Amino acid sequence: MARASLLLALLVAAASAPAEGARVPVDAAGNATLGARREALENGLGRTPQMGWNSWNHFYCDINERVIRETADALINTGLAKLGYKYVNIDDCWAELNRDYQGNMVPNKRTFPSGIKALADYVHGKGLKLGIYSDAGTQTCSNKMPGSLDHEEQDVKTFASWGIDYLKYDNCNDAGRSVNERYTRMSNAMRKYGQNIFFSLCEWGNENPATWARGMGGNSWRTTGDIADNWGSMTSRADQNDRWASYAGPGGWNDPDMLEVGNGGMSEAEYRSHFSIWALAKAPLLIGCDVRSMTPQTKTIISNQEVIAVNQGKISLPLVCL
Ligand code: GAL
Repeated sequence: MARASLLLALLVAAASAPAEGARVPVDAAGNATLGARREALENGLGRTPQMGWNSWNHFYCDINERVIRETADALINTGLAKLGYKYVNIDDCWAELNRDYQGNMVPNKRTFPSGIKALADYVHGKGLKLGIYSDAGTQTCSNKMPGSLDHEEQDVKTFASWGIDYLKYDNCNDAGRSVNERYTRMSNAMRKYGQNIFFSLCEWGNENPATWARGMGGNSWRTTGDIADNWGSMTSRADQNDRWASYAGPGGWNDPDMLEVGNGGMSEAEYRSHFSIWALAKAPLLIGCDVRSMTPQTKTIISNQEVIAVNQGKISLPLVCL
């Protein structure tokens, strides 16, 4: 298996070396206007693929402010933060199902009683950054929170006022409205009120977002549906993602979904391959396990500085592999 993994990694490396200077994007319909807006929307973030942690792959909806705080502590204590893992990203299920009387999103009172601003302050105090999640529809994918459709400006203002550094923007419950309309609305809101917020589009690759997300100010865009913690799922995400390699570059990255390393469904060799392939593909390195209790083997894989350098640097990929 290890040999097969290495071979696969080599093949992916050869095929997915990102272009120096990304191709100028057009939207799904070949519309040049979106491409022309690229410069105006450039927010200066994502010069290299984002690194950090996200709650979904391990915790799903079972999150609370203690988990987030302890994860921030663990990123520092394990040395992972020093290696570049800076974003602490809260995924779905952080909010109350209903907005307040002014239409604002409200952190879940039971699981996030101190509020998101307090969490951002805590995370920032450690030199880390806080990410949050919303959806380009009427409700998020868990159906346990409101989405931001038709509340885009209000929600971005809220996130900015809390000190949020990163927005993952999902694609469920679209109310029959087009991807283009829904993501353009959020793109405009981000341009107005969220210029310092990393914009991560989670459209699952349905309408080839590699060709238009950069034009919407996207710093990364999902190229695939959700990863599962097994070899077949992981390699198929890698294959689907590889098709878009030439669109990746400073400011905007292909995202084949978050890491499963350490969640238990693959062997150590398979996780090593998973991490290596993501590094080679210039994918976001968003840890998806519980870093508070990860094994030494998991820590060794995700702390490999040479592999991280491949992801974050301008190294000739096939040479590094050999
Ligand atoms: C999916 C998304 C996952 C996770 C989940 C939350 O659509 O791809 O990464 O965010 O929603 O409900």
